[in-house]
Amino acid sequence: MCGIVGIVSEKPFEVGELIKALKRLEYRGYDSVGFATDKGVVEKDVGEIKDFMTRVDLKQTAKVAISHTRWATHGGVTKTNAHPHTDCSGDIMIVHNGIIENFIELKNELKKEGHKIISDTDSELIAHFFEGKDIKKACVDFFKKVRGTFAVLIIKKGGEEIYALKKDSPLALGIADGMNIIGSDIYAFSDKTNKAIFFDDNEFAIIGPRSYEFFDKEGNPIEKHVQEFEWSSREEEKKKYKHFMIKEIKEQPIVAERLIRSLETEQKEKILELKNMIENAKRIIFVAAGTSYHASLLGTYFLHESGVEAHALIASEFNSFATVDDETLIIAISQSGETMDVIKSIKFARESGAKIASIVNVPYSSIQRLSDISLNILAGQEICVASTKTFTNQVILLLYLCSLLGYKTNFRELVRNMQNIFEQEEKIKELAKELKDKKDIYVIGRAMAYPVAREIALKLKEISYIHAEGMMGGELKHGTIALIEDGVPVISLIPEGDEDIISNTKEVEARGARTIIISSQPMKKTDFAIPSGNGGTFAILSNMIGQMLTYYIALEKGLPIDKPRNLAKSVTVK
Ligand code: M6R
Repeated sequence: MCGIVGIVSEKPFEVGELIKALKRLEYRGYDSVGFATDKGVVEKDVGEIKDFMTRVDLKQTAKVAISHTRWATHGGVTKTNAHPHTDCSGDIMIVHNGIIENFIELKNELKKEGHKIISDTDSELIAHFFEGKDIKKACVDFFKKVRGTFAVLIIKKGGEEIYALKKDSPLALGIADGMNIIGSDIYAFSDKTNKAIFFDDNEFAIIGPRSYEFFDKEGNPIEKHVQEFEWSSREEEKKKYKHFMIKEIKEQPIVAERLIRSLETEQKEKILELKNMIENAKRIIFVAAGTSYHASLLGTYFLHESGVEAHALIASEFNSFATVDDETLIIAISQSGETMDVIKSIKFARESGAKIASIVNVPYSSIQRLSDISLNILAGQEICVASTKTFTNQVILLLYLCSLLGYKTNFRELVRNMQNIFEQEEKIKELAKELKDKKDIYVIGRAMAYPVAREIALKLKEISYIHAEGMMGGELKHGTIALIEDGVPVISLIPEGDEDIISNTKEVEARGARTIIISSQPMKKTDFAIPSGNGGTFAILSNMIGQMLTYYIALEKGLPIDKPRNLAKSVTVK
């Protein structure tokens, strides 16, 4: 969480250029924003970048500048807590992504030394730590002294370079002509260059307009490899759509097609290798968070249907529940490739000798680079905080993998049906009007429909701000059914041949629930019909109904759909 960007250039550039780059990282956090320049200018405020842009002089120039878009961890959302932070003199300016764990100890020490700390953040301490010191030498001390996670950019008033430090939080250097750009990820500079150097943990660098020197945490110079990357920025426009969420929902058939083609061609070898790794592993554990966890649950179902045992664990609890050894295969699933809990799980598993495979959307992300093998879901940049097209492509990749192991899917038909599902949009809009003022919605499903029930409920919570529970149909009568009374909406996911979920649906109807049936079998009362296919196709298509329902409820309520409160797209803290 939090996005940072710094530019160091031979020729003066307008601050507007820096803020434009920062805007591309806004999905990492959007509660406050700020920048600082080599001229000692520091501007910051609470709120979104677009509003900030109307209040500051974007035409002012600099040769070195840093910027930050925040998702608050330590300290509330206030102007003082916004980044950049400065030392007592105002000569040192810093931006930080991460958490300083020993901040109390550090704060007390700095206070004793006479530093005046004005914010409630852990990040401000970094500026004071470097105050009056030789920055390069102090970087070595910083690694010794500071515990926690950090990507830090430091500039000095009148200075000609950016100092950058990294441990656990992501950081990449983009090399352009006469200009170097350092950002939390390649989105920050993918419109300017396709050449990047990725920081590894415990490294720092001194970056000038045409130079860069990298060091390990002891201060020894290290060689870094420049990588050329491919990343299209074409899909970042909202085009005719009101929100990125609906644009990304509508893009699904196209990005699905692109992924399938790639699995048949350029990613073919890799997916076959992953299949072999699965066949040779004693134990398979998926690890992921949020929506990606729901895709993992579907992965375990598809593997089970292919005769392979697997388990899925939520990343934040991985270390407490996973049994891992050198015959274990971990399959990490992450859109961003930067989710801290997933990174920690991978590192923990790696220490026990496990092999790591990953399925990510953002190429060159930390998770991809930490893996023995990594596949891309090729969904393109997803700007809305809610995962929609990336979930679908995660599931398609898993379906493709399992089709190699015996669980067959007709992919061309699936893509056609995905397109046809939009024909139900008008009906969904009507339902959204009816549900918009509901306090609770329950979503039930069994087997492959259970992860979908959870996924729809998650979308309803984060985007429509309606409390929702996605659960196994069979669990209802073990407690939750007590909450069902007249008019309570229950969305029931009914794939062909699932008689048990029909019974569960009848059970809630008998208690007055307003049921909404999403079904692929002919039934007397079906609200949304899903074409027949295997469980995987039911999962994708029924979830698309849930995505649209969520979107239209939020639209009815006038909510900030693409940037819901308190959330960030990339969760890079524990
Ligand atoms: O980038 P990741 O897939 O690792 O992110 C995991 C979750 O943070 C993410 O899926 C989150 O739950 C989304 N907001 C869901 O829409």
